[in-house]
Amino acid sequence: MEFTNLLNASVARIERALDRHVPPAATLPPRLHQAMRYSLEAGGKRLRPVLVLAAAERFSTAGAADPLPAAVAIECIHTYSLIHDDLPCMDNDDLRRGRPTVHKAFDEATALLAGDALLTHAFALLATAYAAQPALAVALVQELGDAAGSRRLIGGQMADLLAEKKTDATAAGLEFIHLNKTAAMIEAALVMGGRCGGADESQVTALRTAGRHLGLAFQIIDDILDVTSDSATLGKTVGKDARADKTTYVKLHGLDAARRMAHEQTEAALAALRSLPGDPAFLTALVRSMETRIK
Ligand code: IPE
Ligand code: IPE
Ligand code: MG
Ligand code: MG
Ligand code: MG
Repeated sequence: MEFTNLLNASVARIERALDRHVPPAATLPPRLHQAMRYSLEAGGKRLRPVLVLAAAERFSTAGAADPLPAAVAIECIHTYSLIHDDLPCMDNDDLRRGRPTVHKAFDEATALLAGDALLTHAFALLATAYAAQPALAVALVQELGDAAGSRRLIGGQMADLLAEKKTDATAAGLEFIHLNKTAAMIEAALVMGGRCGGADESQVTALRTAGRHLGLAFQIIDDILDVTSDSATLGKTVGKDARADKTTYVKLHGLDAARRMAHEQTEAALAALRSLPGDPAFLTALVRSMETRIK
């Protein structure tokens, strides 16, 4: 099967698993569960859960665990981070995944609580789904907890907000933001997939390195698309980084250098993946597709 068909099949599997592993919309109180599902079901690229499955597939260890609950858990955390990222007190966005943001479609308190609930659900799901493999459950909770925590995703989000309107931003400061607000979760996706598949420690290190580079490339492209794309294609408002005077790769380095840096990071990610076992075709094509993505 060619790459696009494989990708679509992976996304379809993930969306079925999301439906199965997240409480139904009718769960009490329905307004909360509807808001959780509203954003989850809006779609998005599903990059992080696709990476979980793709990484797991590189290993065919006996006794490998089902990576789907891990994939759902990471998509729950990612979606929570988007709901909160869009709140008026953060990036104040009206459009996400082609729909009004959760605080627009519902209200701010519901958006806050839906985010909290998705965040909490992710860890409960890992503990429940991997209860029969306690060592794996602990490794997955640890990985996701570190990636989503105050030193990584949340720390990156804090640094991103603190860097608004900054006139003395440095390349190192910007790298801190991107490594943490974005690369941490992409790194965790590959590592969690590897752990489900039975990767050894040196293979986990390779996955981590690849995730770091892919994550940097991914956020550089996000910064570029905010300048070069349009809202209909992207499903979110464009031009908002400049309006908020965010510290981005485009602001600090310019469009051409940003594109070059995204390319270098993509190549570094591919180099790190080369030592892994299994068929490299899908993961290689996925990493490359993220460099040329239009949304
Ligand atoms: C958006 O992530 C936030 C960033 C980290 C850049 P995605 O671009 O993966 O958003 P979805 O999941 O496809 O909506
Ligand atoms: C998002 O960064 C990082 C998150 C952890 C959500 P952005 O603020 O640039 O993401 P978009 O552009 O709103 O999707
Ligand atoms: Mg933001
Ligand atoms: Mg934002
Ligand atoms: Mg952005």
